[in-house]
Amino acid sequence: MISLGIEGTAWSLSIGVVDEKEVLLIENDPYIPKEGGIHPREAAQHHSERIGKLVKSVFSKIEPDKIDVVSFSQGPGMGPCLRIVATAARVLSLKLKKPLVGVNHCLAHLEVGRWKTGAKNPVTLYVSGGNSQVIARRGKRYRVFGETLDIGIGNALDKLARHMGLKHPGGPKIEKLARNGKRYYELPYVVKGMDFSFSGMVTAAQKLYDRGVSKEDVAFSFQETAFAMLAEVSERAMAYLDRDELLLVGGVGANSRLKEMLEVMCKDRNARFYSPPTELMGDNGAMIAYLALLMFKHGYVTKLKDSTVKPDFRIEDVDVNWD
Ligand code: ATP
Ligand code: FE2
Repeated sequence: MISLGIEGTAWSLSIGVVDEKEVLLIENDPYIPKEGGIHPREAAQHHSERIGKLVKSVFSKIEPDKIDVVSFSQGPGMGPCLRIVATAARVLSLKLKKPLVGVNHCLAHLEVGRWKTGAKNPVTLYVSGGNSQVIARRGKRYRVFGETLDIGIGNALDKLARHMGLKHPGGPKIEKLARNGKRYYELPYVVKGMDFSFSGMVTAAQKLYDRGVSKEDVAFSFQETAFAMLAEVSERAMAYLDRDELLLVGGVGANSRLKEMLEVMCKDRNARFYSPPTELMGDNGAMIAYLALLMFKHGYVTKLKDSTVKPDFRIEDVDVNWD
């Protein structure tokens, strides 16, 4: 069975095709803002201008009639972007006469991670631009045990980078700078139970930079503090739920220092640490296609009347009837 998925919740426009065993292809045409952060309407404009070409390019590599399921990211995300992708998926589904499946973007990050790593019943640390959550399965639902009380870690990194004159996306640039950091400056470490917050830290780090501290030292101090917070809450969830697996997913999961810190924490508690290949960490169509395939095989289909977008879609809203 072959599934095609379209991702476009924010900056990324991506189509992925998967079968039960592997990712067959991923084609990306991301929106990169000329300056500043992501503007929802500009990103949506980009998606609407490019989606036709992207579909054509995919169908030059795989025959349309080989596709069994058409899927799209139904939420959460930016409304204008979501609507472009949903429309494209509806058109494809009608044209190819194949069932449509709308999926939760966060769950797609998580399930593609389980698929590609073999993690069974992990605590998942999901860290991206808009989201930062500690998630674990309880019966027929995934539950969020802890999350950011304000902005996602990716947005925090991007904001700090922008303040230091670096272009979007800032996460990879901060990672590079941090490698050459020499001195650690204390920043507000905010963990409340299993929840946490980053915006105070961003302001404090911006002030350090304004005071003349080097970009390298600011980046280093920021990463060490923020990632220690994420390691602490992940560990707390693992202890509380008595789980011995940790899965890292989401765009910020590409960061080697974050992986290293989580790896050390897991080793200390005799737990296994998993992270999928980098090309499946950030937003991509293959994760949408994979989750749709899994859902379709378990009886899920989205009727046209239920295919409206859900900008505030939460992972807890999905009934999960697979293992
Ligand atoms: P979501 O809708 O799940 O919040 P998203 O739109 O933020 O997803 P992702 O691709 O999951 O998209 O994550 C993008 C974020 O990941 C950006 O904030 C980017 O700066 C950050 N990022 C990418 N690579 C790295 C890295 N190596 N280190 C730190 N952050 C990174
Ligand atoms: Fe994402």
